[in-house]
Amino acid sequence: MGREGTELSRHWALDPEITFLNHGSFGACPLPVLDAQRRVREQMEREPVQFLTREAPPLLAEASEVLGQFIGASPEGLAFVPNATTGLNAVLRSLSLDAGDELLVTDHEYNASRNALEYTAARDGARVVVISIPFPVASDESICEAVLRGVTSRTRLALLDHVTSHTALVLPIGELIGELEARGVQVLIDGAHAPGMLDLDIDSLAPSYYTGNCHKWICAPKGAGSHQPRRQCAGAEVRTFSRRVRLDGNQRPERGARCARGHPLSGRLAPRWMG
Ligand SMILES: Cc1ncc(COP(=O)(O)O)c(C=O)c1O
Repeated sequence: MGREGTELSRHWALDPEITFLNHGSFGACPLPVLDAQRRVREQMEREPVQFLTREAPPLLAEASEVLGQFIGASPEGLAFVPNATTGLNAVLRSLSLDAGDELLVTDHEYNASRNALEYTAARDGARVVVISIPFPVASDESICEAVLRGVTSRTRLALLDHVTSHTALVLPIGELIGELEARGVQVLIDGAHAPGMLDLDIDSLAPSYYTGNCHKWICAPKGAGSHQPRRQCAGAEVRTFSRRVRLDGNQRPERGARCARGHPLSGRLAPRWMG
């Protein structure tokens, strides 16, 4: 349908000759949002130091409040990152694993996320255990059973998509998080597609870490991800571009996410992670 054909289409810069459906790769951004982004850029360029040191922090705090309400996450545990991949790498690069530890993932995982997991495992002599979930899936129970069968005493973390990229499954993460975390396995949710597609209450789901994108289904400007480490992972520290999130609860996992290798998102390392 052409742009003239709908009431809302005048709010978008989309080519009227196409019907754009692929907000899953990169969401198209409405014109009023692009306008707001331009105004903030202009504000920054009027006095960059003043903006970055004084004006940006309260703006980010306000954005954390608004986003936190939308995704059901307490704002003090939220950090902005450029995309889900960066949030995921911030967690994985902060892990301190022992040789022989195991990291769980399913065979539906997004390739770049799986690569980051493989890299982390190889770095520490750990092992990635891939859980096969035959498609089409029989039931949520069959997914849970398959994942939980893969847990051993060496399992430290499970990386799970909230919505799988290639197969468009909504994984039963509520149940999986409960079962895995109860077994001492930290859960990192790759929620790249979830914000704006699913009603979210991340604090109730309570995974150790949740990373997501605002530039897909929320249609925020490109480069808007978010990252939600759970506060109860005490002593853990996850470093991101916008914030160092210090976690001060009292359930420190035996081998948790301790960030000891310098700023994982800094300088020349970052491009390698994004590749
Ligand atoms: C499940 C999943 N994880 C991560 C990503 C990467 O998203 P981004 O490039 O915005 O980090 C995608 C992209 O489509 C995805 O589908």
